[in-house]
Order: sequence, then C-alpha cells, then structure tokens
Amino acid sequence: MCGIVGYIGEREAKEVVITGLKRLEYRGYDSSGICIVGNQAINIYKEKGKIKELENLIEGMEIEGTVGIGHTRWATHGVPNQTNAHPHQSYSGRFTLVHNGIIENYKELKETYVPNVERLSETDTEIVVHLVDHFSTQGLATEEAFRKVLTLLEGSYALALVDAEEPKKLYAAKNKSPLLAGIGEGENMVASDATAMIHVTNQFKELKDEEYVVFDRNELTIKNYAGEVLEREVYSVDWDVSSVETGQYEHFMLKEIDEQPSVIRNIISKYQDENGMLNIAEELQGLPVPSRIYIVAAGTSYHAGLVGKTILEKIAKIPTEVHIASEYMYSEPLIEKNSLFIFISQSGETADSRGVLKQIKELGLPTLTITNVQGSTLYREADYQLLTHAGPEIAVASTKAYTAQIAVLSLFSIHLAERNGIEGNIDMFHELKMISTAMESLKDMKEKAKQIVDSYLTGKDKCFFIGRLQDFAVCLEGALKLKEISYIQAEGYAGGELKHGPIALIEDGTPVFVLLTDEKVAKNTRSNAQEVVARGANTCVISTKGFEEEGDAWVLPKVHPLLTPLVSVIPTQLISYYAALQRGCDVDKPRNLAKSVTVE
Ligand code: F6R
Repeated sequence: MCGIVGYIGEREAKEVVITGLKRLEYRGYDSSGICIVGNQAINIYKEKGKIKELENLIEGMEIEGTVGIGHTRWATHGVPNQTNAHPHQSYSGRFTLVHNGIIENYKELKETYVPNVERLSETDTEIVVHLVDHFSTQGLATEEAFRKVLTLLEGSYALALVDAEEPKKLYAAKNKSPLLAGIGEGENMVASDATAMIHVTNQFKELKDEEYVVFDRNELTIKNYAGEVLEREVYSVDWDVSSVETGQYEHFMLKEIDEQPSVIRNIISKYQDENGMLNIAEELQGLPVPSRIYIVAAGTSYHAGLVGKTILEKIAKIPTEVHIASEYMYSEPLIEKNSLFIFISQSGETADSRGVLKQIKELGLPTLTITNVQGSTLYREADYQLLTHAGPEIAVASTKAYTAQIAVLSLFSIHLAERNGIEGNIDMFHELKMISTAMESLKDMKEKAKQIVDSYLTGKDKCFFIGRLQDFAVCLEGALKLKEISYIQAEGYAGGELKHGPIALIEDGTPVFVLLTDEKVAKNTRSNAQEVVARGANTCVISTKGFEEEGDAWVLPKVHPLLTPLVSVIPTQLISYYAALQRGCDVDKPRNLAKSVTVE
C-alpha cells in the first residue's frame, strides 16, 4: 500500500510526479505529497485526502524544478493528516524521503541512533530519514549513509531519497514493497509500478529485494547492499498510456468491466499456438503433475480460486483445496506430499499470499503464481508463473482480473488433463471464444443493470446473493463487489444454507439476488427463492437461457456449464457499479481500501 514516484530529467517534475501519483492512487489515497527540487530550495507540499486535494493546494503556484519525489498514502503508522503525509524531512532539513511499507524496528533504531531527535510525525518513515542525516553527519557520503541505513532496517519498504546538497541525484531502494526503475532518454525514474511511468517511458528495469538504485538524468545504477553493481535487463510492457486512462469512461471500473471480452480474447491469443493448440508448456516446464492442488489467495482472487477448484477437479481430475491466504498462514494444515500450490493474485504483491508462499517454499513444494503483474513479488518468488494478460487494473474493485484468472485456470486445467492422459476434454479455446461473445452481448445491457438497481436497491442497506455450486462462488464475489463500493451490507450464501440461519434476516422488501445458471440445481435454487419470497423478500433472478422462467429479471446467454461464472459475474459487477453511482460513492476509490494490500 502507498505509492511512490521519483523523477529526474528535463520535464517539469511536478507534472511528471503528480501524473505518476494519480496512477498509483489505487494503492492508497488518504493523503499525498510531493517534494520538488527548485533552483534555490527544496519545496514540499502535502495534503490530507485524495491527490485532487494536493492539486488544489498547489494550484496557481509556480513550482519549477526537474527533480522530484512524491507519495500517495494508505495510513499504517499515524492518522491520515498533513503532518503524517509524506515526504518527510530529516532534522537538519538536508534529506527528504518517501516510503511505502512498514519499518518494524523503527523504535529501536530511534533509541539507538537518534534518541534526541524530536519526532514531528507519528510515522515510522520519519526515523529512516533522520538516520540518513545521522550517518552523513558522522562523515559518510550520502550513498554510504543510505546504504548503512538500509542494512539496519527491518520490514518492508520502497524508498526514494533527495539530498539537498546533491540535488541532481536520487536514491531509491526496495525490500518486500514493489519498486521499478524507468529508463528514459535524458531522464530516469522510479515508481511503485509501471503505470506511474508509462507517460515517460516504456523501458523498465526490475529491482529485487535488498537492492538500491542511484540515478541522475543520464545514468541509473542498481546495486546490492554490499555496494556491488548489478546488471539488469530492460523490459517493456505490452500496453500503453490509454490503458491507464479512463478515456471516454467516467470510471475505471466500468471501463474494466467492458474490457472483459477483449481480455478473454487476449488470453486466447497469448496461450494458443498457430495450430490452435495450448501453448503453455514452456512456462510450466518441469512442473510435476500433482496429486493435490492447493489454491491460496485473498478477496476476489480467492473467489476466482473457488471457481477454479471446480474446473480443475472436473477437467484435470485433481482434488483441489482453496484457502484464504491470511488464514492458511497460521493454520499449519496437513499437506499431501505430491502437491502443487497455486497463488492467485492480481497485483502479485498481497502480503498474506506472500507469507504462505514463503512457508511453502521452505517445505520445498512446487509453487505457481497466476498474476496480472509481470515481475511482481509473487511472480518472481514462485517456481512457475502464468500471466493473466488483463492489462493494468486500476479500479480498486477487481473485475477483469477475476475473469482473467478463471480463464487462465481453465487453460491450466487442460494442460494438467493432457499431462494426466485424460481424453475427450472440452475445446477450451472454443468455449472461451463463446464466453467472449456472451460477454460482448452483456456490455449493451447497462440500462437493465440501472433499472435493477433502481427497483431492488434504492433505499436498502442490506441484501443477499444466493446460488448453488459455481453460482454460490459468484454470489460471494457479487456480494463482495456490492459491499466494497456501495457500502450496502451484502451477503453471499449457498442457496440451501439460508434456512439454517440467515433467513431470519429476511423481511418485507429485502433484496435477494438469485443466481441460477446450473440446470442441475436450478430447481433447488428456485425453491430457495420461493422460501425467501414467502417471507417478504424481493427476489431478482438472474438465470440462463434454456431454463429461464417468466419473471426472471435477467436471462444470460448459454455457455459451457463449467464456465458460467465468467458470464454471470458481469450482471453482479454492473449492479454493484450502478448501486455505488446511485449512492454517490467514489466508485474507483472506495473508503478505507487500497488495491495492493502489502501489509498482513
Ligand atoms: C476486491 C479486491 C480484493 C483483492 C484482494 C487480493 O475487489 O480487489 O478483494 O482481490 O485484495 O488482491 P490480489 O488479487 O492483488 O492479491
């Protein structure tokens, strides 16, 4: 959480840094700040609230300078206010720093090295910048002082540092929090991810844990904590500035919902060879065929894992368990010997999932990460990687990443089935093409979603999503989406489970969304819907063509029964979006949340 940017070049740093911060706002948005190195002075501006507030603060000010750092915050140590906002300055005023992460031993470091320095903020970060000042006062050159501090820090960090006495150089470092270097012509950058630099360059260098970088506008050097220079390949991303802008859309969320058919087509093109065959073996070379699969993930990615479980079991015939990462970490479950661990993560940075990955690596079991972000921590640290190729997902509420994860899991299940010698499998590429067509048809049904919101959710503060089997998994996701962006309390329940307790909450007019895409259990779910209708619920049935009934609110096109979640989730995404709009919520930046959850 939190996002950082650092820039040196010939452009106005204020513009470059603010644009970068806006792209990182998904990482946290309770306060922000910039430091711009001017001709005469170091200028720091900070403000509570979203980056728009910072822009309002500096509007009309002449802030010139071609060197700058910036920060957007998701508070951990200290309430969100102007004082706790980054950047922070050292006691002499010489050094200025931004930080993403948590310094676990900041209290001990303060007591040991700078006990008499008065702390101005409640942050852990402030101690780091005082330490750099402390060691430089003791005679170390800035790079040495910075490196010395890095070797003392415990915890997670991406840092960027400005030295007022050497203002044409920046220093940055990383451990467990993401940081990339961006290489330009006569300009160089660092930022928490590539989206924050794509307006300047599409040439990136990955930074690994316990590495730092020293750069000016012409040169950028990566080193380890022993001070040794490290060579690093440059890479590019296959998306551009338009992927990180809303374009004709009012919100990223709606844009990303609409991108889903093209994401599915993109996945097909990435994983299909010229003969129409699955082209995934290279990524998975050496992967043993497991006798049990464990999927570990959080939030929406966990929900994608629940759908993936059924697909893997039905197609690859491998028993699969799905675990919430933060629960798994401390539960010490019994693990079968010949197991594979799959980590699903849009960002590839989720601390809970990473904690489990580390445990599993210590056990020597094979690990596979399915992620949207190449070079992310979970991507780098797993033995095998599959990319979801969904393009940057900016809205905090995940939509296209979920469908992309399920699509990639489906292809992976075919890979395992082929290696298991299972014959007569479904033509997954054909089925995914059908999915993409079905998704396209739903893009035009926004009016329907708006009407459903008006009729069912106006003035309501709670609702239910019910369904069975794959529909139940989608109900959990639909309820999560609705609650996180509209703040309506929403519960996803297995249709048959309602009568074991939660039915007590049904009153006159309680909205209940009923998902009904599996013919095998359609009748049972219809009965569950009747049970709540009898108690006054207002049911909104989302069914599938072929077994729809009169009065169903939304009839979805028929697709392969195993893959229905890829289609049925879209009405739930659209309903959540329009419910949030109707309530005047900030759709892309819901309260209290951040997209990349890098703390446990
Ligand atoms: C909800 C949402 C979160 C994430 C969760 C895991 O819309 O986006 O629930 O799914 O924080 O994040 P990743 O997938 O990045 O590991």
